[in-house]
Formats: sequence, C-alpha cells, structure tokens
Amino acid sequence: MAILSSPGPKIQLIAGVLLTTIPLWLLAWHFRVRNPLFVSRHIPIHNAWTVDREMFMHEWMGNQIGNPPNSSSVALLCGKADIKWQPNVVLDLDDANGGIGNVRGNIFDFLGLAILTGSSIMLPSFQSRSAEDLSALWNGKIPFDTFFDTEHFVSTFASACPKMDIYQPSTDHSLLPPLHNRYSMPSMRQDLHPESLGTENPNTPEAAVENFSHWLKAQPDYDAQKTSLVSVGRTLWEGLDTRALPSAVRRDFGNSLRLVPEVRRLAAIVTYNLARQYHIHTIDPRLPYYPSAFLGAHLRTEIDAKNAGWLNDEGAAAHANFTGQTDAYLSQAVERGLNVIYVASGNSSEISHFAQKAWSRHNFNVTSKASLLSDSDLEALNNLTWDQQGLVDYEVLRRSSYLAGFARSSFAFNIAITRNEFVGVNQEVLRRRPGDVRKEDVAFDDGISKIWGRFVWQEERMLRGAWP
Ligand SMILES: *[C@@H]1O[C@H](CO)[C@@H](O)[C@H](O)[C@H]1NC(C)=O
Ligand SMILES: *[C@@H]1O[C@H](CO)[C@@H](O)[C@H](O)[C@H]1NC(C)=O
Ligand SMILES: *[C@@H]1O[C@H](CO)[C@@H](O)[C@H](O)[C@H]1NC(C)=O
Ligand SMILES: *[C@@H]1O[C@H](CO)[C@@H](O)[C@H](O)[C@H]1NC(C)=O
Ligand SMILES: *[C@@H]1O[C@H](CO)[C@@H](O)[C@H](O)[C@H]1NC(C)=O
Ligand SMILES: *[C@@H]1O[C@H](CO)[C@@H](O)[C@H](O)[C@H]1NC(C)=O
Repeated sequence: MAILSSPGPKIQLIAGVLLTTIPLWLLAWHFRVRNPLFVSRHIPIHNAWTVDREMFMHEWMGNQIGNPPNSSSVALLCGKADIKWQPNVVLDLDDANGGIGNVRGNIFDFLGLAILTGSSIMLPSFQSRSAEDLSALWNGKIPFDTFFDTEHFVSTFASACPKMDIYQPSTDHSLLPPLHNRYSMPSMRQDLHPESLGTENPNTPEAAVENFSHWLKAQPDYDAQKTSLVSVGRTLWEGLDTRALPSAVRRDFGNSLRLVPEVRRLAAIVTYNLARQYHIHTIDPRLPYYPSAFLGAHLRTEIDAKNAGWLNDEGAAAHANFTGQTDAYLSQAVERGLNVIYVASGNSSEISHFAQKAWSRHNFNVTSKASLLSDSDLEALNNLTWDQQGLVDYEVLRRSSYLAGFARSSFAFNIAITRNEFVGVNQEVLRRRPGDVRKEDVAFDDGISKIWGRFVWQEERMLRGAWP
C-alpha cells in the first residue's frame, strides 16, 4: 500500500491563474463596455457574451459548493478531543454501489465511521454498473477516481484531518489481506431509531464507536501491534445526523467528494453552450445557481428504473411514469416562466419524446448534454460510462434555476439537498427544516427544487443523512 501525499505546487498554480485571468478580465471588461447588447450601465453583466469560453469554464469550475474550501469546518469533525487515533487500523469500504447518489451516501457513512473511530482508510472504491444491463450493479470494483477528484479529496483531509492516513492500492497490488470477518456498522441515527435509546445497543455515534472497538478486539486475527485491514460493509444514510452539524461543516465535508475534473469540464462546456444556443444572459459562471435561466429536470424513466418497478410506484403514482414526470416538470417550467428545460436522462429516445411534448404544449425547448456538445467534447462524453455521463448532468442540474426530480431517485434528491444549502447560506430567511419541505405528493419543495412523489424510506434517511 502507498500513502498518498498532499498534492503539489499551489503557488505556481495561483500565479498561473492570475497571469491568465488578468488579461482575460480586462478583455471582458473592454468588450462589455463596448458591446451595445448591454444597455444597463449599472448592473455589471457577466455571462457567455462578456467572457470567452475558456474564461467561462475557468470561472465555472472554480465555483463549487464549499468554495473557498474551509478546512477548519471539516476539522471540527476530526479535531474532537475524544477521538482515539489508531493509524494502524485501516478501514476499507467493501461494497459501495449504485449511481452517484447512493455511492456518495455509502462513502460518507464510511468516512464518518473512520473519523469517529480514529482509523485510517483505503481510498474508497465501489462497484461498477454493467454497460449491457443497466440493472446489473455488481460488475467488479472500480477506483475512486471513476467519479471523484482524488487530489481534492486527499488534500481536504490532509489539512483538515491530518491524523487520518489515506491509503490506496499500489500498482503492484501488494495489499494486506483483510481480517477474516467483515464489519457491519450499526446505525448512528438516533432520530431514525428512537426505540433503541436506553437499550444495550442505542443508535448513536458514541455507541457505534464502542461497537467497533469491541468487535475489533474480539477478532481472532487482530493484532494491535500490526497494521490491520478491516472490510466494512456499506450502509446508506445511517451515519452522522448531518442536520445536527453547522452548515459550514455540512457543506465542506460534503464538498470533499468533488467530481472528476473531466466531468466538471464537460459540464462547464454544456452550460456555456446552453447559454449561447438559447440566448440565456442570466447565466453567470461565478454564481452557485442561476435564479432565472433554465429548468433542470431529471427524467428518471430509463430501463433500470422501469425494471425496478419505479414507473408504476404506488408512493409516487401520479408522478411516476413518463407522463407523470413530464407533466409535473412542465408545470414547474410554466410556474417560473422558464422556457428552456435541460433534461438529465440516460435515454435519448425519452429525451426526444419529452422535447416533442414540451414544444407542442408550451413552445418550450428541451435540451440535453449530448445535444449541447460537439466534436471532441461529444466524443469525450461518449467515452465515459453511463454513470459518468450522468455526473455531467449532476453538475449541470446543481446550478439550474429550478430543479425537477422524482422521489425514487437519490440522484435528484441529493442535488436538492445540496441546493438547499444555497438557500440557507444566501438567504437565511428562506431556510427550511426537513419537515417543512414535504407535501402530500411532493417529497421535497424548498422553492428552488421540487421532488415529486413520495418515498418515505429514502426521505427519512436522506433529509438528515445525506451530505450536500
Ligand atoms: C470556517 O469554518 C469555521 C468553523 O465552522 C468558521 O468559524 C469560520 O468562520 C469559517 N471561515 C470562513 C472563511 O468561512
Ligand atoms: C454491534 O452492533 C451490532 C448491530 O447492532 C450488534 O449485532 C452487535 O452485537 C454489536 N457488537 C458489539 C460487540 O457490541
Ligand atoms: C429508452 O427508452 C425507450 C422508450 O422510450 C425504451 O424502449 C428503451 O428500452 C430505453 N433504453 C434504455 C437504455 O433505457
Ligand atoms: C401513467 O400513470 C398514470 C397514473 O398512474 C396512469 O393513469 C397512466 O395510464 C400511466 N401511463 C402509462 C403510459 O402507463
Ligand atoms: C426550440 O425548438 C424548436 C422546435 O424543435 C426549434 O425549431 C428551435 O430551433 C429550438 N430553439 C433553439 C434556440 O434551438
Ligand atoms: C475516446 O476514446 C478513444 C479510444 O480509447 C480515444 O482514442 C480517443 O482519444 C478518446 N477521445 C477523447 C476526446 O477523449
């Protein structure tokens, strides 16, 4: 195993950025002043006309939830005085799986356990989905950087959590064999399991730490003098109660799982092209979301959703199938007067079908990542796996004016939870509590995101258990 070190030369990077930024900024300023399109002299307009594509992408990528990174907020988790650090206990997340929503949930539960027990970790891996059968989720482990930015993750924890060592398998695969038994973490969610309080095994973070410590000492092949690798079974939103933590901690810990730069680059180009093609002047690449630009809709009708029975799901009856989802999403576009809809879907015929419907009913345009990319960018998109392509949508939807999603999907729900942070951070007055964002047939509605249908099992876990 090899310890990952902190990433490299920050000073050069900052100098490089400044040197390229200043001339571009001057050019943009010059252009804005001279451009007759922008009649207002008082509101500085910053968009795909006043900055060039490279600058737009640069600013877009530099603007991420949790930026600027604030390691002191993540350090609040790692710096607790009662954590007993045991660097030679290395936890390995054994079986994370699914799309980005579930994989994030699995990894954050795992990280919470690792931090509270003072353990080291293996850089988490997860299972891949089959390209031939999208319902087949167990196709072998794939590395962290299939979805996430390794350098960002490692540097976040190197500064905020210096006592947690992060290992990754070295190229010669000389891994330690794990302890024979696999560890299963009990839930830490007191709010989900109030009946457990006062029993021998209450569902609290403290009890989970005790549980792990007892379990480890009871393992016949555990030797405290040696490095031990411990396989940890996945849990989903059973870790820390995120709402019990300050917003800055939620945001910055959540931001440790930043998506890979290639995905973010493609999402930036998609957004730039979206603005240009549909003449949307309100997309400022420096904003965390664009209040009046486009509806971001997650059309979750692909074959795997159908196979899982989601499209005739009882809890979401009226909003479950293609008709139900698209009717609901169009109603949101009408409500906000958004005549451009960016649709996230892994099925091109479903996208065309929605586009026809939106145009024939309301003269709204529906567009998607594949139709907003061309040439080598489109080729780069097509080179990605189905789930990686979905990550491009994940990034674009995060910044949409109004998000439209379906309750069965943790993908849409997690984006809604992330966006709720903007509401909280920017306009404290609009801050909602989880209980305020549900309605009879709407799982989540905070004014900038609406998740249609109900899926109580997931709502209960995600509202307090999912990280922005
Ligand atoms: C960083 O987080 C800490 C702890 O939450 C907070 O006190 C501090 O104000 C934050 N700094 C910035 C620049 O947001
Ligand atoms: C740990 O928690 C699990 C699940 O609640 C329980 O079955 C097990 O007995 C606990 N182990 C110890 C050593 O407390
Ligand atoms: C795409 O949707 C069509 C129906 O519009 C369906 O026949 C097809 O199986 C779907 N394919 C995938 C990969 O989801
Ligand atoms: C879609 O769902 C609605 C509500 O359950 C139902 O009335 C309709 O027949 C369904 N449409 C299709 C094509 O299955
Ligand atoms: C919007 O959709 C209509 C109908 O498909 C199409 O004719 C029009 O060109 C689209 N608008 C843009 C800006 O692409
Ligand atoms: C796409 O993948 C092919 C085959 O691996 C490779 O030759 C090509 O350069 C890739 N294209 C882009 C734009 O990444």
